[in-house]
Amino acid sequence: MHSIPEYTSIFLEYLNKHALEKEPKNLYEPINYILQLGGKRLRPVLTLMACELFEKDYKDALDAALAVEIFHNFSLVHDDIMDDAPLRRGEETVHEKWDINTGILSGDAMLIRAYQLFENYEGATFKELAKLFSKTAIEVCEGQQYDVDFETRDDVTIPEYMKMIEYKTAVLVGAALKMGAIVAGASKSCQEGIYNYGRDLGLAFQLQDDYLDAFGDPESFGKQVGGDIIENKKTFLYLTALANSNKDDAQQLEHFFSISPADPTDKIETVKQQFLDSGAAKATEEEIAKYTQKAFTALDNVDISEDKKETLRLFGQGLMKRTY
Ligand code: IPE
Ligand code: IPE
Ligand code: MG
Ligand code: MG
Ligand code: MG
Repeated sequence: MHSIPEYTSIFLEYLNKHALEKEPKNLYEPINYILQLGGKRLRPVLTLMACELFEKDYKDALDAALAVEIFHNFSLVHDDIMDDAPLRRGEETVHEKWDINTGILSGDAMLIRAYQLFENYEGATFKELAKLFSKTAIEVCEGQQYDVDFETRDDVTIPEYMKMIEYKTAVLVGAALKMGAIVAGASKSCQEGIYNYGRDLGLAFQLQDDYLDAFGDPESFGKQVGGDIIENKKTFLYLTALANSNKDDAQQLEHFFSISPADPTDKIETVKQQFLDSGAAKATEEEIAKYTQKAFTALDNVDISEDKKETLRLFGQGLMKRTY
């Protein structure tokens, strides 16, 4: 096993080696731009780590790790179009720097490129990886559609929100780990256990992404703070604030989440205050800790040493301290 920073730099070296410097420039430049923009590289690190957790050399998992990171970046390019987001990792989003059509096509090419990387695996491994990837990618699309549908609905429930974030975010974190386990030839029960760890960590991760979207530091967050409030996203913060507020406050909140003012400054400030006053901010922090803990419980069913489990727990605890 290597350390997280080691896996990250191993992955970055592999990513750089596989940059596509080809024509047409307007297809490939945006792809290289988003892939070089940074990011935490969480998912590919998990793929490499999972492979070694189950006793196989990480090198065998590099193509799967690259596929997962390219897919993730594809989903961000299209997500930023759908969310009308100006900033990604502290820089202009692809559709802002180029235009929407460029974002659509470059994103499409990235999705295909991700699939193509599985061709480097033989027989049964190829089939298992491709099958998991297809299932996951469809679920991400379903999650993204729920996310958009919820913007204009006023009857979203917390279980619906949890399902939405499971699909749009958590399944890919689970799949990243399971791919490493597949490459390593781990048992089915270990594959399931490590997937469940990743999925629950992914739920905590998206809850925290929503929290940071409202309360993150603009300096470190790298995205437009308040973006979810502008877009009327029905997050755990919002749904909990609504449930915990008196009638007048609830009505005000609902009103704010039915309009799109040209200058959203007032809306953002008022809504954030209500997230705090209603106890929703605190409840979200507790929910993040709860799902992180749940992820650790999933490790009970994974047949690896206590040392390795501790590494996975430290990884989860590290995520809770993130600022971006
Ligand atoms: C952003 O994912 C999209 C979500 C699922 C919240 P990350 O926060 O992992 O993005 P990068 O890759 O580190 O920028
Ligand atoms: C993104 O959710 C999930 C996917 C990209 C599939 P968000 O819309 O919350 O992600 P950010 O905040 O833009 O990174
Ligand atoms: Mg977004
Ligand atoms: Mg989104
Ligand atoms: Mg977000």
